[in-house]
Amino acid sequence: MAINRHILLGVSGGIAAYKAAELVRLLRKQGDEVRVVMTESATQFVSPLTFQALSGNSVHTELLNAQEENAMGHINLARWADVLLIAPATANIIAKCSHGLADDLLSTLYLAVSCPVYIAPAMNQAMWSKTVTQENVAKLKGQGVTIIGPESGEQACGDTGFGRMSEPAFICEQLVAKPVERCLQGLTVLISAGPTREPIDPVRYITNRSSGKMGYALAHAALKAGATVIYVETAAEMYEAVMAKASGCDIYIGTAAVADYSPDVIQPQKIKKHASQTTIILQKTKDILAAVAKLDSCPFTVGFAAETENLEAYAQHKLHEKNLDMIAANWVGREQGGFDSEQNALQVFWKTGQKNLAMMNKTQLAEQLILLCAERFNEKNTT
Ligand code: C5P
Repeated sequence: MAINRHILLGVSGGIAAYKAAELVRLLRKQGDEVRVVMTESATQFVSPLTFQALSGNSVHTELLNAQEENAMGHINLARWADVLLIAPATANIIAKCSHGLADDLLSTLYLAVSCPVYIAPAMNQAMWSKTVTQENVAKLKGQGVTIIGPESGEQACGDTGFGRMSEPAFICEQLVAKPVERCLQGLTVLISAGPTREPIDPVRYITNRSSGKMGYALAHAALKAGATVIYVETAAEMYEAVMAKASGCDIYIGTAAVADYSPDVIQPQKIKKHASQTTIILQKTKDILAAVAKLDSCPFTVGFAAETENLEAYAQHKLHEKNLDMIAANWVGREQGGFDSEQNALQVFWKTGQKNLAMMNKTQLAEQLILLCAERFNEKNTT
């Protein structure tokens, strides 16, 4: 499976630098693009040519080199990265990063990136266990860095103990799947969530089994992705609230299980139970999603389809009939997934393709869906 992340790999000067070569090979094999930054001492252990050949990109070694800055300046390199991985990380680079020193390219990049950072330390066991090193590592963790390893075992210097860099395959596994962070940076996402309540009288309403969990998980994932989320809560005013905001948004996700019908008349007083039968006349509600998709300046519009039968056929029909950019369909009324469940699975359709997102918890699922929205949104806006 192609992962397609941009991995910025920082190699610092330790004997484990040779293992970083294998790391580049493994990352590329799984579909990642890799750019390598080496500290000056790393180049004493492994030639930049090795990394150039393995990564397919020229290697960056100097901060103050006009030629390198011309090709891809350090700020552009930082912006390019989806992940910064420093492997091996010596005690020196750990100390520099933890204290915010920026006297070479790699330490400067640590300060310049806003993507997730992973550090795989590698050093002599005595250096690793030194209090100051442990304090520096704790500082990095406090800054949100993920530390991978080190492992215990025989070291190149002959010592035995903690300090060996983790194996490249293990490091690869630790890097999370494509990070959702920043994939919607600067965009405004409008998400409707939950059931609506259609009042019958002052104490009763018609509703459905939607819990709002999927919509709230999507709002959290969108926040993590860097978007500004405007919460829309009230059922009766959802149409007005959404329509008032939709034109100014980049993406609209209609997760809400909006009532299809609402009582024609709301009785001003509680209905008394005299009659043995009663009738409530229901009026069809306005379709918010279809109205958003009809706007002249419509956002990228994503609908949901909760179905008890013919999932794909109904979803495809809604995608075309409402003129949506994407629709996420899920089964409801089954044992697993759907309304009020912690888990769900989605079949996502757009006009030229589809993707199945397997049964998983709604938090993870929301991140996967946000990533998919970002991909489709970017494609629509670049073609
Ligand atoms: O046509 P159906 O109601 O099954 O389509 C579901 C999708 O349409 C959901 O995304 C839901 O939020 C949206 N919808 C809406 N307004 C309605 C009914 C449904 O926005 N009145």
